[in-house]
Amino acid sequence: MIETVNQLSRLREIVGGWKRAGLRVALVPTMGNLHAGHFSLIELARANADRVVASVFVNPTQFGPNEDFAQYPRTPDADRLGLEAAGCDVLWMPAVEQMYPLGTDHATRMRAPGISDVLEGACRPGHFDGVCTVVARLFNQVQPDVAAFGRKDYQQLAVIRQMVADLAFPIEILGAPIVREDDGLARSSRNQYLSAPERALAVELRRTLLQVRDECVAGKPRAAVQAAALARLQAAGFEVDYCEVRLPDLAEPTRDDDGPRVALLAARLGRTRLIDNIEFQVPAR
Ligand code: PAF
Repeated sequence: MIETVNQLSRLREIVGGWKRAGLRVALVPTMGNLHAGHFSLIELARANADRVVASVFVNPTQFGPNEDFAQYPRTPDADRLGLEAAGCDVLWMPAVEQMYPLGTDHATRMRAPGISDVLEGACRPGHFDGVCTVVARLFNQVQPDVAAFGRKDYQQLAVIRQMVADLAFPIEILGAPIVREDDGLARSSRNQYLSAPERALAVELRRTLLQVRDECVAGKPRAAVQAAALARLQAAGFEVDYCEVRLPDLAEPTRDDDGPRVALLAARLGRTRLIDNIEFQVPAR
């Protein structure tokens, strides 16, 4: 039976007991409103640890002033049931005062420069500082041996890996594959904001990424691939924030030669902002 914990002292007691028994502990950080994507993270965590803690915390410091913090869906009862069914051991659900005892204005902040400032970070200034700030706090609270994050938030995973390496957190970071709907749309808590016509259009994101991959693999120059993708998304009715092909560390490729690539996009349909990505290999010619 899952235990829901909202006091740090109790969390420390449980995790301390596990550690003394020599058990390996995994953390799955979430903002709740859990879906199949999150449950795949729990599965990955279970495969890599003896005990799993999932956190549910809608983190105010990673939302911009005009973003959806207030509307972000909060479904604690369904989340607890889902986590129990998925085999999670502890649900860590801190209140804002537990997470930020000095208040968000006076909280000690984290920042992973460079990688936090491009693509998603350029569109959402301060977003990754808020993510690093809360993830560092969660790491310190739970003290896991391993933590699992979704590859759908590709840049978030890269930012967290940089922070973990830089601060020498003794935590193994796992990236879980993207979970998709049958038509290819990446699972996201924000999909439920889409109207029926928008939901039907949203599949264009995945189709565009597949086109980007195929064109890059076929040797089309990156600039032309990106321009075609942008035109396709705009013609379908998206307001596009970015659609770019990058190296795995998110640096801009200087040539169209062989090697690993990731194509990432963010686009709005009405009031809903969606992100997706695809990782692929450009073959040697
Ligand atoms: O990916 C998310 O849900 C959030 O950014 C995270 C990692 C839980 C931090 O609030």
